[in-house]
Amino acid sequence: MDLCIIGSGYVGLVSGACFAEVGHHVICVDNDQRKVDMLQRGEIPIYEPGLEELVHKNVAAKRLRFTNSIEDGVDHSQIIFIAVPTPPQTDGSVDLTFIERVAREISGVLKPGQYRVVVDKSTVPVKTGEKVEATIKRYNKDAEFDVVSNPEFLREGCAVPDLMNPDRVVIGSASQKATDLMKRVYEPFQAPILVTDVNSAELIKHAANSFLSLKISYINAVSAICEASGADVEMVADGIGTDKRIGRNFLNAGLGYGGSCFPKDVKAFIAISRQLGTPFTLLEEVERINATMLTRFIDKVRSALWVLKDKKIAVWGMTFKPDTDDVRNSVAIELINQLVAEGAHVTAYDPKGAEKAVEWGLVDPTKVKLAKTPIEAVADAEALLLATEWKEFANVDFAAVKAKMHTPLVFDGRNLFDPQTMADLGFTYHAVGRPGPKAGA
Ligand code: UGA
Repeated sequence: MDLCIIGSGYVGLVSGACFAEVGHHVICVDNDQRKVDMLQRGEIPIYEPGLEELVHKNVAAKRLRFTNSIEDGVDHSQIIFIAVPTPPQTDGSVDLTFIERVAREISGVLKPGQYRVVVDKSTVPVKTGEKVEATIKRYNKDAEFDVVSNPEFLREGCAVPDLMNPDRVVIGSASQKATDLMKRVYEPFQAPILVTDVNSAELIKHAANSFLSLKISYINAVSAICEASGADVEMVADGIGTDKRIGRNFLNAGLGYGGSCFPKDVKAFIAISRQLGTPFTLLEEVERINATMLTRFIDKVRSALWVLKDKKIAVWGMTFKPDTDDVRNSVAIELINQLVAEGAHVTAYDPKGAEKAVEWGLVDPTKVKLAKTPIEAVADAEALLLATEWKEFANVDFAAVKAKMHTPLVFDGRNLFDPQTMADLGFTYHAVGRPGPKAGA
C-alpha cells in the first residue's frame, strides 16, 4: 500500500521504516529541512537499535523516501499517518497546535475525488479525532476522508521489534472502508487487531501508559516498605509478578519513571479527567510517589557522605532508560543536576546520551565532567551512583573500579547489581528496596 507519515520523530520514523520493511511504499514527511536532508543522506537523527539498517535497506529497495512536502505525501498515499509531537503545556494538558496545523495542511492539499484515511498516531486526548475531522472539513468542504485513531505502543530502545511484533494493534474508526484499509496495512504484522470507536482508541493510549506508570509507582512504594522492614523488593516483585493477572513486567523498582511519554501522559490524563469533570486522583498519587524516588535516593547518598559539597561523585547513566540516546525528562539528568546544585563534583558517563545532554542544554559541561569510559568516570570518586541500567555497566571490571575509586561505595538506583557479589568484591552497596547481602544470603 502507499502510505505517508507526517513527522519523522521516534514514532514516525520507526513506523515508516517498519511499514516499508513489510512491503508498503512509504513517504516520510517532515517540516525540518535539516532532518530531511540528513535522512536523504542516509543519516539517522536518533539512536534506535536496528533502525539504521532498516532505513538503508528500504531506501535502497525504493520503498521508503523522505520529503518536506505534505502535498507530495498526500498526493501519493491512500493513508496519511500523523505522528507529530504533542508536548505538554504548563498546566499538564496537551498542546495540540502541531496536530491542528497538520490537519489544516492536509485539508489544503486534498483534491476532489481523492479519498484518504487520515490516521492519528500521536498520543492525543480523547475526542481529538472529532476535532481533526471538523478542522479538515472546515478548510476543505469537498474533502473525502475518514479520520482513524491508531495509537502506537512502541518503547524507545526496542522500537523496531515492538513495531514488527506488536502485542496488539488498535484501530479506532467509524468507517468500514477506513477500517478495511487499516487492516490491510497491518495484515503483514500478524498481530491481534482490536477495532474500536475513535474515542476509545484515543483513551486506550492514555489509560495504558498511566496504568504502566501506576505499576512502577506501586512497586516503588512497596520498595520503601521493603527498606523499612528488611524485605527484598526483587523477591516481592517476583512473588507477585508470577501471578499471571499481575505480570512481572514494569515491576522494577528504582529511581522512578522518566522519558518523554509517562510523565507527560500521566499529567495529560489527569488534566483530561479534570476537564471531563471526573478527576482521576489516583494518578496524582502515582506522580507523587514517582517524585519521591529521586529524593529518597539522594537522601541515602547524603546520609552516607554527610555533606555533598565538594564530594567527588561518579554517575553512570544519563539517558532515561538503556539502549536509547534520549535524555528528555531523564531522572539520571535530574540526579546529576541536583548533585551539582549541592556543590558535588560530578563526573558522568553514558554510552549514548552524553552528547545530546550537552547539545540540548540539559547538563552544563563546565559543571559536570563527562567521562569517555565507566572506569574513567570513577577515578578518585567517593561514591558511584548508577542511574540507568545499561548492560555495559553489568559487565564492567569491578576490581578495576574499586582500585580507581577513593572509597568503594556504590548506590545502585536501578537494582542492576547483585548485593552479595558487590559485598564479596569489597563494596559498600546500597540498592533500592533491597537489604544488605547477609539478610538475603
Ligand atoms: C512507553 C511505553 O512503554 C510504550 O508502550 C509507549 O508506546 C511509549 O511510552 C509512548 O507513549 O510513546 P518508553 O517511554 O519508550 O515507552 O519507555 P519504557 O520502557 O516504558 O520506560 C519508561 C520509564 O519507566 C523509564 O524511565 C524506565 O526506566 C521506567 N521503568 C520502566 C521503571 O522504572 N520500572 C520498570 O519496571 C519499567
